[in-house]
Amino acid sequence: MEDLASVSWPPEPIRTERLVLRASEARDRAAFVELLASPEVHAYLGGPRARAELERELPAVPERWPGSFVVELDGAMIGQLLLRRATGHRRPAAAGKADLGYLFLPRAWGHGYATEACAAALDWLADALPGEPVVLTTQSANAGSMRLAAKLGFTEVERFEAWGSEQWLGMRGPLAPSGRAPQGSCSAGVIPRRERGGR
Ligand SMILES: CC(C)(COP(=O)(O)OP(=O)(O)OC[C@H]1O[C@@H](n2cnc3c(N)ncnc32)[C@H](O)[C@@H]1OP(=O)(O)O)[C@@H](O)C(=O)NCCC(=O)NCCS
Repeated sequence: MEDLASVSWPPEPIRTERLVLRASEARDRAAFVELLASPEVHAYLGGPRARAELERELPAVPERWPGSFVVELDGAMIGQLLLRRATGHRRPAAAGKADLGYLFLPRAWGHGYATEACAAALDWLADALPGEPVVLTTQSANAGSMRLAAKLGFTEVERFEAWGSEQWLGMRGPLAPSGRAPQGSCSAGVIPRRERGGR
């Protein structure tokens, strides 16, 4: 995985009905520790990182790279969206394509925030890199992620075995703005930490 080197970054904050999407800042560090150390968040992502290690090793401004959006609700971070280049993806259908991933704090689940944020980020990508299809990989057992992928218009390309479980690879066509996309596909990256560009 590589960042979206060719986009202009950081972007102007993106405002949706309830949320703001923006590049990370120093004030997000505690929320990043919480997010990356959460067993619930990483139940289908190869397990969490140790809190002490995160406290020690995360930079003052974590995860500030082109394509990494902090999702903010009422002034506080509730999640992260990751739009990356799937360089070296093990499935040829996904290799080199734009790839969507999403991580939200458990207290923010069940309100439609992930759907709202991902739709806005996909619209942003459609403007930044017109005509790009987007891929998403998630464990098929990750029911919330599978529902989100379907809502965003991702459709199944294939299922495959990796990291000891069935993975679902979805793709969303280049028809751009999420609201106008046909019922298609969108999926999130379940690449193990060591393969996720330093995550
Ligand atoms: C995957 C993940 C982002 C999904 O979060 P989520 O909150 O379930 O997703 P959504 O934003 O789509 O919210 C949908 C739920 O909010 C409910 N909801 C409540 N108010 C809503 C509103 N105003 N609008 C839309 N949905 C609303 C929906 O009914 C739905 O509930 P349901 O799942 O019980 O059917 C979250 O579980 C997560 O962060 N998991 C850990 C990380 C992970 O596994 N990522 C995937 C691989 S990268």
